[in-house]
Amino acid sequence: MLKNIAVIRGDGIGPEIVNETLKVLDRVAELYGHTFNYIDVDMGGCAIDKYGDPLPETELKKCLKSDSVLLGAVGGEKWNDVPGNIRPEKGLLRLRAGMGVYSNIRPAKIWPQLADASPLKKSIVEQGIDFIIVRELIGGIYFGEHKTEGDTAIDVLKYSESEIERIGRIGFETAQKRNKKLCSVEKSNVLDSSRLWKKVMHRLADEYPDVELSDMLVDNCAMQIVKNPAQFDVIVTENMFGDILSDEASMITGSIGMIPSSSLGATTCGLYEPIHGSAPDIAGKDIANPIGTILSAAMMLRFSFDMLKEADAVENAVSAYLDKGYRTADIMSEGGKLVGCKQCGDIITQNLRKE
Ligand code: IPM
Ligand code: MG
Repeated sequence: MLKNIAVIRGDGIGPEIVNETLKVLDRVAELYGHTFNYIDVDMGGCAIDKYGDPLPETELKKCLKSDSVLLGAVGGEKWNDVPGNIRPEKGLLRLRAGMGVYSNIRPAKIWPQLADASPLKKSIVEQGIDFIIVRELIGGIYFGEHKTEGDTAIDVLKYSESEIERIGRIGFETAQKRNKKLCSVEKSNVLDSSRLWKKVMHRLADEYPDVELSDMLVDNCAMQIVKNPAQFDVIVTENMFGDILSDEASMITGSIGMIPSSSLGATTCGLYEPIHGSAPDIAGKDIANPIGTILSAAMMLRFSFDMLKEADAVENAVSAYLDKGYRTADIMSEGGKLVGCKQCGDIITQNLRKE
């Protein structure tokens, strides 16, 4: 199959982790007889430097015309005070909205090889950590009005029933494919938008009788994720709660550097990115962990290209790498073999086998 993949390297460690991922994709293409065309797209701080805009229309168009988008990371200190409040992150938000990718899937799964890297007690880790956060991605406070008037700043949080319903359905459908437990997370003891959220979720529940729906307040959820993560199967939540909870959920699995994500909307053209940021402090040192991006590419193969065997092959290659004891600095523990970003990409590429 021929696929056109828009590639956004971005800022900080973005270029390094994307380069390793392309090595893996090239090997997949070779093994399975596919052709992947990469279309370079500038977004983030590097686009501000080049065009004065974190995502010019021409760059967004390249993404919309592609079969899917692979993204490293954007942002960095350097662009925090650009006049006119033009931030690299604005490019990312414009891309998500422009592509209409409202459904963001962030798995929190512990690799057995990395059980020691979790900051949680062994007795908790042993009960298992394997859940998915379904995060609404193009609504809520991220996309409400933002303004500052004198000494007061305003950010508007709003959700319509239809916005809640479409992400709610993804939550139920995701749970149907797993252990059929969906936890809807909100703050309905305080927020109107959360009360609407809860109402819509319960209305939808009638259509998915095989899924057990529960409600949880977001503050309690933050606590439960560290206290008893084994209770969760699928969590569905709004944009900002999902942002915060997914960082927390990633950390209990060992490292945020390991976690991929997929974002999809009405079409199969998706956006695939690790959930971590651009980590400018370690950029260019060849110590970043490219696995979050490599696993995001596996999600692209599975969800956008329907290349299920190819996706399994990538995940198995990552698992074989971990089995052999290789570790980048973020997941290094006693007895591990320390490798850099490039070496990590090379070893995973070498481990790829046709399934
Ligand atoms: C994420 C990031 C982004 C977000 C930032 C970079 C805008 O934290 O993907 O989780 O808040 O969505
Ligand atoms: Mg985040």
